[in-house]
Amino acid sequence: MGEFELRDGVIHCEHVPLPLIAREVGTPAYVYSTASMRRQVQALRSALASLDDPLIAYAVKANPNAAVLATLAAEGLGGDVVSGGEYRRARAAGIPAEKIVFSGVGKTAAEMRLALEGGLCQFNLESVPEAEMLSEVAVSMGMTAPVALRVNPAVQAGTHAKISTGAADSKFGIPIAEAMSACARVRELPGLELRGVAVHIGSQLTTLGPLEAAFRKLGELIAALRAAGHRISTADLGGGLGVAYDPSAPPPPAPEEYGAMVSRATAGWDVRLIFEPGRLIVGNAGILLTEVIRVKPGGAHPFVILDAAMNDLMRPSLYDAWHGIDAVVPKGGAMVADVVGPVCETGDIFARARRMDRVEAGDLMIIRTSGAYAATMASTYNSRPLTPEVLVNGDQWAVVRERQDIERLLQDTKMPDWLGG
Ligand code: LLP
Repeated sequence: MGEFELRDGVIHCEHVPLPLIAREVGTPAYVYSTASMRRQVQALRSALASLDDPLIAYAVKANPNAAVLATLAAEGLGGDVVSGGEYRRARAAGIPAEKIVFSGVGKTAAEMRLALEGGLCQFNLESVPEAEMLSEVAVSMGMTAPVALRVNPAVQAGTHAKISTGAADSKFGIPIAEAMSACARVRELPGLELRGVAVHIGSQLTTLGPLEAAFRKLGELIAALRAAGHRISTADLGGGLGVAYDPSAPPPPAPEEYGAMVSRATAGWDVRLIFEPGRLIVGNAGILLTEVIRVKPGGAHPFVILDAAMNDLMRPSLYDAWHGIDAVVPKGGAMVADVVGPVCETGDIFARARRMDRVEAGDLMIIRTSGAYAATMASTYNSRPLTPEVLVNGDQWAVVRERQDIERLLQDTKMPDWLGG
């Protein structure tokens, strides 16, 4: 969290005081730190240094802002995409085609065509029917699609149920017990070249045990596939490593510990390893800058009503997620409050009974760890225009997405004839 610290009593992002951004851009606004993203990339790279040429394909869904992608592309990262839109964003921001992995359980024929035309590292297939569709698409284009099979290893990730993907009843991946027959089927299909296997068991993982268990199962599968005559040259280990949200909670495993576990679990695999980190790279590289609209007296605690809402950061309402909340210019003193947004939903709450800096109307606050799965999951619910994004780099800063124009929101809807359209 080092890039959003108090200096002379004011929280800065790198060298830029946050009140300056609030004044120029207004609130709410997301603010991202270039230095923080770069530091995370370097930490992961050095943790994986013992591996032979790993591909780090950043999970674009975590934060698909073009300037964020361009920053990461310049650091040499590839992209893990799950839609045609993400594929196009990744390419437009300069991520080379050969560093793109196409994941996702519901790829359409149009998305397959787009990625085959533009090029990619591999499709991670999640079912035999998907393999059949890709085969048809590739044959119709006279091409061969590089593919890996994403397996579901049936391990409990130990994270929030809504972000677990590796349990036996989840929609993701092919049950590992069926992987051998699925690969045999893939080999029969024209237009496909089976290159590897993939696994991703969930997000915000705070222990390494479930990941290691999944990797061990993947290793056994690779050996079995090779014994059956398949040539396996890639293994995609997914993303999922958690980041610190609550500084008072035990910290999640550091990248070095993750890297050491990966080397141990994958020793002798003789494949190119692929990683799909999202939150690890951008989670703590962003905050949501917001202003207190008013403090409303409440039964148990006062309500601190912010101008940011659940439509800017859904994680607390969706997953009961804990995010740090601090005053930008602390005045001294503390209060216990429910921190809420203005949206008309009881779930529009960022923190309950939180002991925090004492604030009053007009004060600026930040909601921490909003670099991942914040702007990307935003909506215009309650007709609130989308919040702008700002990227800081040292003492420079720039708006990298404007605040959505309310006029645009109005114009986007069309009147049918019978209502005078
Ligand atoms: N690879 C695949 C196939 C994924 O589905 C995901 C995330 C990732 C990589 C990146 O995972 P990460 O390294 O960021 O944990 N909205 C939720 C998180 C959803 C994650 C979905 N898939 C949240 O705010 O916690």
